[in-house]
Amino acid sequence: MASETNASSVPLDFLGELRRTHSCGQLRASDAGSRALIMGWVHRRRDLGGVIFIHIRDRDGVSQAVFHTGAAPEVHAKAELLRSEFVVGVEGVVALRDPDTINANIDTGEVEIVADKIWIFNESRTPPFPMEDNVDVGEDARLKYRYVDLRRPRMQRNIILRSKIAYAVREYFNSQGFLEIETPFMTRSTPEGARDYLVPSRVQPGTFYALPQSPQIFKQLLMVSGFEKYFQIVRCFRDEDLRADRQPEFTQIDVEMSFPQQERIYEAIEPLIEKICTVAGYDVKAPFPRFTYAQAMRSYGSDKPDLRIPPMHPVEDLFGENTLPSNGLPLLAIVIPKTGAVTRRERDELKAFGTERGLRVYDDAKRLDRDFPAEMAKVRERSGAAEEDLLLLAGWAGEPNGQRPEETVYQACGQLRLTAAVKFNDRHKLLDPKVFRFLWVVDFPMFEWDEEDRRWNAAHHPFTSVHDEDLEKLTGDPARCRAKSYDIVLNGVELGSGSIRIHRRDVQSKVFAALGFSEEEARRRFGFLLDALEYGAPPHGGIALGLDRLVMILAGETSIRDVIPFPKTARATDLMCEAPSTVPERSLRELGIAIR
Ligand code: AMO
Repeated sequence: MASETNASSVPLDFLGELRRTHSCGQLRASDAGSRALIMGWVHRRRDLGGVIFIHIRDRDGVSQAVFHTGAAPEVHAKAELLRSEFVVGVEGVVALRDPDTINANIDTGEVEIVADKIWIFNESRTPPFPMEDNVDVGEDARLKYRYVDLRRPRMQRNIILRSKIAYAVREYFNSQGFLEIETPFMTRSTPEGARDYLVPSRVQPGTFYALPQSPQIFKQLLMVSGFEKYFQIVRCFRDEDLRADRQPEFTQIDVEMSFPQQERIYEAIEPLIEKICTVAGYDVKAPFPRFTYAQAMRSYGSDKPDLRIPPMHPVEDLFGENTLPSNGLPLLAIVIPKTGAVTRRERDELKAFGTERGLRVYDDAKRLDRDFPAEMAKVRERSGAAEEDLLLLAGWAGEPNGQRPEETVYQACGQLRLTAAVKFNDRHKLLDPKVFRFLWVVDFPMFEWDEEDRRWNAAHHPFTSVHDEDLEKLTGDPARCRAKSYDIVLNGVELGSGSIRIHRRDVQSKVFAALGFSEEEARRRFGFLLDALEYGAPPHGGIALGLDRLVMILAGETSIRDVIPFPKTARATDLMCEAPSTVPERSLRELGIAIR
């Protein structure tokens, strides 16, 4: 055990002037015969007595070094001291391996270094978990010893991919004439609608900065200042409930442009996405399909549809209210391809899922075929449902519900569709993580109804423009007022969101009024932006993409924690540095803060 080997028993070497000749992933058959000096961590060690094999790992890969007792006894003796994760340098001659010992699992597997020198730069306690990718390690241990976890090949790959993507983003925007401009972290509350993280001021006790939920207002001000094309890879902070794709601090690729139509924004972002996918080794071709919010809801029951699963089809027109009643609301056919025979129990589970969400689910397609042969022939024709597919019909069980009642039905059906698709994925394999189906969802409703507060909220944020022809609906019919806003969606995940902004003070006032903000409240929260709109603000608009989410999907991960070097847990804790933490009483006094 490495922990039993204390510092005094392992003689440690200085790095001195030593330089590597190769990285651990670099050596190939063509290097045979030359000398090499590599440095890295002891990844694996096999001691066969007279000969010791060590796998040495750095961020570039793994090389094997072999130590023969006969050839260099002192070097062999030193190699005997090595344990997992010791930090070493090894020098020797690169030799071809015997054909039967070639390791096809590593790039350097055709060769090995026959070592005649070794340096031990540092020892290591026994690591809390093995460095292999395919061992199951609890997340708490991974996050507590994050510096060790990050050494594992999978995490190295993810963080390297992230760096390459960030580089490609900068390269792309620079080539397109965008300026990278920084915006403050210590600022006032921004409008994204989550809770703020607050930073107390020492100099002005009782006052607080807010960490930005996004650079939204500043990037708009930069357009007022005439910079025309802005981007930033920027950290944002939101105190909200966390999930697999949400962190309290996360990174946006933030963009703003002057004089754009929505199409100009898509034109700017699509080549960026193509480039990023190329960096990740995937070939993705723009333009991406565009769905209005209304279409996405109708066909997928979601504003972030996963296009790898087929759409739903409305079939209420094929059935009368006295056959399959749907209360004047949509009745949808949900088809999950190639499930083959589905058991009664599986159908019951899906039905229960739908019922819990207010749906009436017809799960027995065979019986429907028998009871309504003519109608069902048309359902099958419209939906393309084949014999080996699962076909469900679902409608609303109760009275219409909500401000846009048809949406409530679509959403519940969409959840049922997704659940059914996930349930049978091992049969149809549609949810292939290497298939990337991007799309734009456009023309979101401007407002969302908040049942609790009984008021309209901005669906995106209050600086979003409405469609020119919907301006008068702002007061008359807010439920049907469409915004010039858009999301970019990938495989059921909202990757990014943006809008054309309001650049006129009079229109901004109307939107605040529709949102029930008094002029004083609007002035108190965003007064400086309102002032700026009166000093020649150009038409402008932009978007922000979630970098963490994008890297997560391209890395084939299902949690953004796996593409963030030092993430927080679902309780927003950093287990490694144990933040958040209490602070000394003196610090609180200085800030004029008393804890209740
Ligand atoms: P929005 O709030 O939609 O828009 O955020 C844009 C994108 O940022 C990502 N994102 C997150 N990623 C990880 N953890 C989080 N907690 C988190 N919250 C958001 C998502 C999301 O699509 N200022 C506007 C953009 C604009 O209008 O230009 C904004 O921030 O991928």
